[in-house]
Amino acid sequence: MRTQVGIVGAGPAGLMLARLLHLQGIESIIIENRSRDYIENRIRAGLIEHWAADLLSDLGVGGRLQREGMLHWGINIGINGDLHRIDFKALVNKRVTIYGQQEVVKDLVERRITDGGELLFEVSDVSIHDLTGKQPKIRFSHEGRQQEISCDFIAGCDGFHGICRPSIPDGVLSVFERDYPFGWLGILSESPPPDHDLIYSYTDRGFALYTMRSPTLARLYLQCDHDEDIEDWPDHRIWDELHKRLGGARKLQEGKMLQKGVTPMRSFVVEPMQHGRLFLAGDSAHIVPPTGAKGMNLAFADVMMLSRAVGAFYKDRRNDLLEAYSVTCLRRVWKAQRFSWWMTQIMHRFPHETAFDRRRQLSDLDYLTSSKAAATSLAEQYVGLPLD
Ligand code: FAD
Ligand code: DHB
Repeated sequence: MRTQVGIVGAGPAGLMLARLLHLQGIESIIIENRSRDYIENRIRAGLIEHWAADLLSDLGVGGRLQREGMLHWGINIGINGDLHRIDFKALVNKRVTIYGQQEVVKDLVERRITDGGELLFEVSDVSIHDLTGKQPKIRFSHEGRQQEISCDFIAGCDGFHGICRPSIPDGVLSVFERDYPFGWLGILSESPPPDHDLIYSYTDRGFALYTMRSPTLARLYLQCDHDEDIEDWPDHRIWDELHKRLGGARKLQEGKMLQKGVTPMRSFVVEPMQHGRLFLAGDSAHIVPPTGAKGMNLAFADVMMLSRAVGAFYKDRRNDLLEAYSVTCLRRVWKAQRFSWWMTQIMHRFPHETAFDRRRQLSDLDYLTSSKAAATSLAEQYVGLPLD
């Protein structure tokens, strides 16, 4: 097989990249090791930045997002039961949209199929070769047959556990990382969320986040141990803890739990995000802790930059944007890393924290909820910094 851009992974990054390239008349093949059903039902992120929701619409995949997505012009910060609203509309005149990642994936897959682009599911034994040559290759098995794709470029969009990043030779990448001594226990519940807006709740019992997927579907998270066994959390214990961490600020209605699981918290970046003709995008190059919901949005920003660079290569025979890809992306990546780390560290309880640390957190939250300058800074980053 032969294509211009070989894309490994059909997550938000790989699927959006294929659409961006298609609109520029650039051919690609996407290979994905899971089934279509699996990727369309994998519950993960749910919050889309202002520019990214607009981009999905501009790309012709925003119809359902506009109908079903929930617009949020602010968030609530709870400090031991007292709610403070950060008003994005007044501060930066922008909003975010709540729309599940699996819905974005469904819309992009459908579009890809309508576009007539190649998208192979359930491939196995994927490997990439000749990364520094002019025709890198992707090898894999599909329906019992060995296949090889010869490409001009490979986009490594295969997430944190993919094969692209580890295929880069030792010594090329620098890794920057931080693990957090806690995780998030997340549930999806058939019940109305406690407020129209999200609630980020700082409490003496630990952090909780009250978000949603629809007016009748709540998505709720609790700070828990990093190695928490979900078996130790029967439904009644989760509800009890969620009620306590909402601190009586709102009434939380219980409902049938449709899903529950624990997410680890990690900050991780590799530099550079490229090697020869392999370009890493999204979680394959970086992970943020979920506080602030930057993961999927960063994946979208990376592939915007990559599609521009690849477009300039084919249209004007320019290499400069490809060469600058990593530097361009990393400026935004590090801002999102800093923001996610900051949101995480002001909101959570830490195992070895001192009384000084708690007072400092409370003072940070007091400043955030009482200073227009501080609230504007949060709002500007939360709704998404403009693309360069
Ligand atoms: P992915 O979505 O991981 O897509 C990579 C794709 O590559 C997958 O479909 C995978 O199956 C495929 N793949 C892997 N290896 C191979 C291979 N060898 N060959 C072919 N295909 C391969 N972010 C938030 O903002 N808020 C949240 O609440 C949130 N919750 C999360 C919960 C969990 C459990 C996880 C894992 C992530 C969460 N994230 C969250 C992060 C967010 O979902 C990611 O940032 C986003 O999915 C990144 O998109 P991506 O396309 O880069 O990677
Ligand atoms: C969601 C997840 C987040 O990590 C966040 O900060 C906001 C919203 C969500 O799943 O809706």
